[in-house]
Amino acid sequence: MSTSASLGQKPTRGTGRMAAVRELVQMLRMLFEVEREFVRTVSALIPRVGNIELKYLVCQHIWESVSHARFLRERGGELSGFGKDDAVRESYRSIFEEAIRAEDPMIGLNGFYKVLKPALLDAYRHYLEATHHLADWPSRKLVEEFIVDEERHLREMDPYLSQTNDQDWKQHLSTALDELGGWLGEREQKLLPEGFVWNREELPYRHPDVCNRGEYPVCSSVFGNDQESDPIVREWLEDPKTDARVVRLMIFIWLMMELDAVDYLSTMFYDTAEAPFDLHYDLARHLWDESRHSAFGYRQLPKLKVDLGTLEHSLDLYNILIQMSPPERYAMMTMEFEAGSFATKAHVMDRVRELSDFEADTLLAFDRNDEQQHVRFGHRWLPEIMRLFGETGSVKEFVESSRERFKALEREFGGKTPHSLNPEIRLTGKKLLAIAKVA
Ligand SMILES: [Fe+2]
Ligand SMILES: [Fe+2]
Repeated sequence: MSTSASLGQKPTRGTGRMAAVRELVQMLRMLFEVEREFVRTVSALIPRVGNIELKYLVCQHIWESVSHARFLRERGGELSGFGKDDAVRESYRSIFEEAIRAEDPMIGLNGFYKVLKPALLDAYRHYLEATHHLADWPSRKLVEEFIVDEERHLREMDPYLSQTNDQDWKQHLSTALDELGGWLGEREQKLLPEGFVWNREELPYRHPDVCNRGEYPVCSSVFGNDQESDPIVREWLEDPKTDARVVRLMIFIWLMMELDAVDYLSTMFYDTAEAPFDLHYDLARHLWDESRHSAFGYRQLPKLKVDLGTLEHSLDLYNILIQMSPPERYAMMTMEFEAGSFATKAHVMDRVRELSDFEADTLLAFDRNDEQQHVRFGHRWLPEIMRLFGETGSVKEFVESSRERFKALEREFGGKTPHSLNPEIRLTGKKLLAIAKVA
């Protein structure tokens, strides 16, 4: 070993000596920013696409991508020069901002999955070629795994994209990315052609007022007191005389309807562009959890003889919450809906246990555990989101005023979605009684 110290020389600032580390850590930093920005923007497409399984899939990819970002940041932190903050460079932000400006969300998704993510895959492959297999083995192990994930993401998305193919939009994004020469500048950089127009400069981004549920029938709310009209009859949920099989059907409907949380939570990433990465990391986990809770119902109900074509999706929560500020939206979700759901759900879990349905018990137990975690996220992040939006009062007062505003907005924006199906066709409490007997 002959280091400068062992030779008795005065250590010098080792920029030259660490050049290889600095060059590679810069790439890790860039990859971190791309993953982070993907999460922040692709999430905005979720309320806009109508296919339920597609929403679930994007939530899963967001979770995996945010995990890539986290590992990259952890590894980067072990190397000199990664940087202490979580900021994303403007050149990346421009491209991802552009990517959500596609008018048709499926064309938007094409841009992400046919241009931006394949370029990310190329960037990871480039990293493997550029780094030293032994010296940088820890990064290499991560990147090898990310490549497998990225290849799978493209494969998993492919069936949804086969119907939409907009060459112009893909070309538009490719041209924007060419200016950087790929995410790592690993290819030749090309100047933007004359007349290239950034849509993001013309068009501020706005979340849709109503979320898209595609082919599915919709309504304002699935909760009510009329067994001839509503699928979840509130008093039946609490009534000890209700058949436990009916309670099980109703809780799976409730869980499936957590898709509304998927749609409104998706909007939080874009709206908190300056948030620390850890906030987006927890939001991504929260989002994926809600998509899985919804999938609990989506997968179990058909097994219990429910025709999902007769189950209307409730849109009220999205429609009302989207009118609120991001901190109000997040306060209502975590401090009101989630924190307020435990007592009823505990009673429901006790009733379902009577059925010795191990799978249902497991799903409900995980749901409960996840929801406890979500309330913890709320306590951790609501003050931070309030700060981002200049809310200076106490959290308690803010939650209280959010509740009041929600009530007012509910009168204005709630109850506006008419039933897609008439009561003879749609799933109601009364029909659940009949289904429970044969399921
Ligand atoms: Fe949930
Ligand atoms: Fe939750």
